[in-house]
Amino acid sequence: MSVGAKILPATEASIQLVVDVLQSGELVVLPTETVYGLAAIISDDAALGKIFEVKGRPLIDPLIVHVLDLSSLLDLVQIGDDLFNKIYRLVDAFCPGPLTFVLKKRKNVSDIITAGKKTVAIRMPAHAVFREVLRHSGPLAAPSANPFGYLSPTCAAHVSNSIGDKIPYILDGGICAIGLESTILDLSSKRFAILRPGAITAEMIEGVLNEKIIAYRPLVSADPSAPGMLKQHYSPRTRLRLFEQSPEKEIPFFQENHTPKIAILYLSREEAKSQKITDEGNFSVFWLSESGDLNDVAHNIFDWLQRLDNMSFDIIYCQIPQKMDIGIAIGDRLIRAAAKF
Ligand code: TXA
Ligand code: MG
Repeated sequence: MSVGAKILPATEASIQLVVDVLQSGELVVLPTETVYGLAAIISDDAALGKIFEVKGRPLIDPLIVHVLDLSSLLDLVQIGDDLFNKIYRLVDAFCPGPLTFVLKKRKNVSDIITAGKKTVAIRMPAHAVFREVLRHSGPLAAPSANPFGYLSPTCAAHVSNSIGDKIPYILDGGICAIGLESTILDLSSKRFAILRPGAITAEMIEGVLNEKIIAYRPLVSADPSAPGMLKQHYSPRTRLRLFEQSPEKEIPFFQENHTPKIAILYLSREEAKSQKITDEGNFSVFWLSESGDLNDVAHNIFDWLQRLDNMSFDIIYCQIPQKMDIGIAIGDRLIRAAAKF
């Protein structure tokens, strides 16, 4: 664990400092409503390169550009009138917020950001602190501020515990309200498609556009159209297994002379209380929310997995929610997190 980065309170002076640091070609970590982001100025290729170094991220995995408003988005993309109308409606309904658009890029967007692709991913974050930085810095590229492949950070401590020795500053904006990365919506092909599920669901988008889009197809997209959507991602170091209703069936027999330390992470307190396996012996029981509200589960999931990852369990069993609303996005992150085990 390292404590190299300075955690700055979200004051005007900190914002000024962070803008200066960004403009001098360094990276800073900023809060968004989804997860913390590792930011660089989009016109500075050397700074953009540092993002990949700090994260240990392959250069083929493109970055999301964060802008303040629709007019800054339009500076970076090439779109016709029909598409403009649709984007306008989506922005009106959901932005600023957790929705990223993939659109045909203009020449002025660096190939480092897009990994050489002809499209660029852009979103308007809602977090007031990030927006204040954007007002002074201009557009910022920012992936989630975690080492490549590890769980995403939803508070400043998560960042300082992982990449803290590689960056000068983390601007503290509290705990991320949503807790899962933005929905990625590809608008660059004829049929619009969800490339990564998030808090804004396919149904919500269809409701605004009045047309069908291609809903997210889990794990087909360990492929080039969404290069970051790897089958295995967001993983803790501790072995992670998933269950739907009850964990017993999933728990294998262990050798007599080894009693593994097992964490069970249920969706709600009620669920935890109604299950056979309780908090005793080698089992420790936790829950992701009081009520089972999926928005609370989303808000807490990365934090709980990181806490348990630091508690020397041999294995974590986590309950996976039903595939509806934000449950689709939670399930997606969990399936990827468990894929390597
Ligand atoms: O909520 C979020 O989106 C957070 C916060 C910090 O804004 N950012 C984030 O960035 O999750 P990152 O880099 O961890 O994930 C970005 C994803 C990757 O899977 C990447 O492959 C995909 O966006 N992406 C970026 N540009 C793309 C493009 N042109 N076409 C398809 N996918 C793209
Ligand atoms: Mg990420």
